[in-house]
Amino acid sequence: MSGTSGDGMHLNLFTMNSVEHVSPGSWTHPGDRSAEYTDREYWTDVARTAERGGFAAVFFADVRGVYDVYGDDRGTAVEKAVQTPSNDPGYLVPAMAEVTDSLGFAVTKSTTYTHPYQLARELSTLDHLTDGRVAFNVVTSYLESAAANLGLDGRMDKGTRYDRADEFMDVCYALWEESWDDDAVVRDAERGVYTRPDGVHAVDHEGEFFDVPGPHGCEPSPQRTPVVFQAGSSDRGRDFAAANAEAVFCSQPTEAGVREYMEDLRGRAADLGRDPDSLAFFPGIVPVVAETDAAAEEKYERLTASVDVEATLALLSGFLDMDLSELDPDQRIEHIETDAIQGTMNAFTTSDPDREWTVREVAEFSGLGTTSPVVVGSPETVADELAHWYEEVGVDGFNVKEVVRTGSLDDFVDLVSPELRERGLLADPAGGTLRERLFGGGPRLPADHPGRS
Ligand SMILES: Cc1cc2nc3c(=O)[nH]c(=O)nc-3n(C[C@H](O)[C@H](O)[C@H](O)COP(=O)(O)O)c2cc1C
Repeated sequence: MSGTSGDGMHLNLFTMNSVEHVSPGSWTHPGDRSAEYTDREYWTDVARTAERGGFAAVFFADVRGVYDVYGDDRGTAVEKAVQTPSNDPGYLVPAMAEVTDSLGFAVTKSTTYTHPYQLARELSTLDHLTDGRVAFNVVTSYLESAAANLGLDGRMDKGTRYDRADEFMDVCYALWEESWDDDAVVRDAERGVYTRPDGVHAVDHEGEFFDVPGPHGCEPSPQRTPVVFQAGSSDRGRDFAAANAEAVFCSQPTEAGVREYMEDLRGRAADLGRDPDSLAFFPGIVPVVAETDAAAEEKYERLTASVDVEATLALLSGFLDMDLSELDPDQRIEHIETDAIQGTMNAFTTSDPDREWTVREVAEFSGLGTTSPVVVGSPETVADELAHWYEEVGVDGFNVKEVVRTGSLDDFVDLVSPELRERGLLADPAGGTLRERLFGGGPRLPADHPGRS
């Protein structure tokens, strides 16, 4: 059974407020618009197109630090625009919301490098301005280079980052869910009472990482807590996702890997007293689509040929916290527990025990969307594949990754969305908050979510 409302698959456009996201080198394609990422018009075009294609949300990745692990130097990453330069995603949301009616916006924010009081305020503001269309993609960050810029001696180890994330979310939930009563704001002009003081409460949080007395500075927004997105993949990360995520992003390149991850996370959620079927799963996919299978194959060959292998290795070195320039290209990737992104490591080691990957193979595969399956074909072929994942594997939808911008999105919306609609496979619910559109219930966190108790 799926975590979402069951009225069809939901789509998120996985993108980043930067030149390059997860398809390094793609900005060099003729007609690619990635370099327009600094323009508001680029993003309002993306928003309109995504909404036209029935997308539930645009999911903005975000990174702190620079990819300087490869060759122990940031030269490659900077030269090739590997997620640098990038701008803050949150500021795009009001502009994109202005030109759309129902599109949601998942904004990545790091619990390692922000403060919960500040972040709760920012996301409440966005939830107000979008009439409840905001999600919080909770990450703990991974690049060592992020820490020094924020006055820290070094990157916290992963266990500490997740300890901080646990407490961070406790503070946010208290501010969003408990600080203001539903009927605190009365706006009684006759009596001159905007808010009843006895309806606004301190949260009195005193912890290991934060002391936050409260109250929250914002009145309740439509969803109060934004929809919680998460993608933890290490053991600790899975516990964190099971406790917090309403929607989970899967980074496994194979069906077996996604199935294992879903089952494991549902088990962990049940152990925490949550309805395991309330979690929604979104694997990444990289669609390469054209009018016919043959034309799509040709396009795929063209895109693969122009993958920037060195830029890909610089990106992956950051994801894995491992300098891939030091390895022989024909060397097999050996599994390690990384202090960076475990999901990327697992994708090429544990997620399919029958498949071994060399450094060269990983770089070539990852050049188009990193660890997600690439689906190549006509609209019918791509829809068949998505239908299989939705109906047989039980995922709730997809995190659609771009190669060419905005060509990949345009192709999907013009060719695949109509096919999915015709087959009744695309969830296209109108109105309401993002949480209502995704899950079909009310605008608030469900009662069994730890953030409510
Ligand atoms: C699909 C996916 C998207 C992610 N997006 C981001 C991101 O935008 N920014 C970020 O700092 N981390 C991102 N991450 C990293 C994680 O959310 C997490 O912080 C990291 O993987 C370390 O924890 P883990 O080893 O438990 O997964 C992403 C991971 C996945 C699988």
